[in-house]
Amino acid sequence: MDRLSLDGATRLNPLVVLGATGSIGLQTLEVADRLEIEVAALAANRASDEFAELANRYPDAALAVAGATGEARDALASRFGGRIDFGADAVAALASRTAATVVNGIVGAAGLLPSVVALEAGNRLALANKESLVAGGPIVIEAARKGGGEIVPVDSEHSALWQALVGERREDVRRLILTASGGPFRGRGRDDLAGVTVEEALAHPTWDMGPKITIDSATLMNKALEVIEAHYLFGVDYDDIDVVVHPQSIVHSLVEYTDGSVIAQLGEPDMRVPIQYAITYPERAPAPVPDLALGGRALTFETPDREAFPCLELGFEAGRRGGSAPAVLNAADEVAVAAFLEGRIGFLDIARVAERTLDAVPQHDLVDVDEVVAVDGEARDAAGRVISAVG
Ligand SMILES: NC(=O)c1ccc[n+]([C@@H]2O[C@H](COP(=O)([O-])OP(=O)(O)OC[C@H]3O[C@@H](n4cnc5c(N)ncnc54)[C@H](OP(=O)(O)O)[C@@H]3O)[C@@H](O)[C@H]2O)c1
Repeated sequence: MDRLSLDGATRLNPLVVLGATGSIGLQTLEVADRLEIEVAALAANRASDEFAELANRYPDAALAVAGATGEARDALASRFGGRIDFGADAVAALASRTAATVVNGIVGAAGLLPSVVALEAGNRLALANKESLVAGGPIVIEAARKGGGEIVPVDSEHSALWQALVGERREDVRRLILTASGGPFRGRGRDDLAGVTVEEALAHPTWDMGPKITIDSATLMNKALEVIEAHYLFGVDYDDIDVVVHPQSIVHSLVEYTDGSVIAQLGEPDMRVPIQYAITYPERAPAPVPDLALGGRALTFETPDREAFPCLELGFEAGRRGGSAPAVLNAADEVAVAAFLEGRIGFLDIARVAERTLDAVPQHDLVDVDEVVAVDGEARDAAGRVISAVG
């Protein structure tokens, strides 16, 4: 990878931005514009006006749209001609571009294939799509080994762990401590959660994110998925991963070493910082974020309430079972969150659907992306049946 040069003499790798219209994608483009990094390719799921606007703003970028059909697809094809392609394979093909940094901001298990393709092509994968590692952890790690690609996390907690691990020996790590904001329902008991509305669940206190991850933050499923993500990224056992609730979202995560030292990464909650670091790593560039003002500010930490938020434990459970279990949990959660957002099930049903689906789908080892896709489909069907029963 070219070294970062702020005087413009050399350039960072061109960016392939997958999920370009989403929260991560748009913030990535903001970083790219500010650091004057070339945007080589853009991908999204729908033939939206937002995507067409981005296609116009980056006239040299190759384009792919995964889910466009019919007239919407025809309209995009005639507007952008030879530089646009369609379907999941077209999105993945963008990730194989030579010497690129692929920012994967796709939501859901659909992000797995492009992650694998990026790593097999030897690219840097700036990974926001935690579902890649949750659904296909061993396959993603193997793709990096085989292709020589490198995974640099974008998730703020994993970026913090990554930064706290730079220059250290893995055998000196005693524990990873992931922080969780606790979401909008922190402090509430289980009985208080039965009737919460979609609007309340979408009102995250510290982060402005897409709807799926925002609901996952409210159930603590997001942290559950992040525990699995951390296990695969850093090769640390589940017994050595802890979660602590930290409502201010200033301490983004911590690493405890065998000598008792704990190294943390702090900063105002702003996803542009971990996105930028994943792109510029191992160097840093200035960012327009306010100085961290700690004077007079209380940073507090709490033990998570695993009874009120059973999804957290489900993450450890699925992670320990291994094999296809995390992929099943991930798919069940995607289906359950969609049903909750559509008003078909209640908030507490999300955990019920996840747990029952995890128990219903037989577990086995996963060797390639096709197997993950098959398990994902099986789990979605099973989750649909559970929803019919509970909804
Ligand atoms: N937002 C955050 O602050 C944050 C923080 C940490 C981690 N993450 C992770 O980053 C990922 C993205 O989150 P987000 O909040 O940015 O989600 P989001 O705002 O909902 O955006 C999702 C993006 O994915 C695209 N997409 C969906 N399915 C696709 C497919 N099959 N192929 C190609 N593109 C597809 C969407 O395209 P359309 O617009 O066309 O539907 C959209 O661009 C998630 O894995 C999340 O857990 C996000």
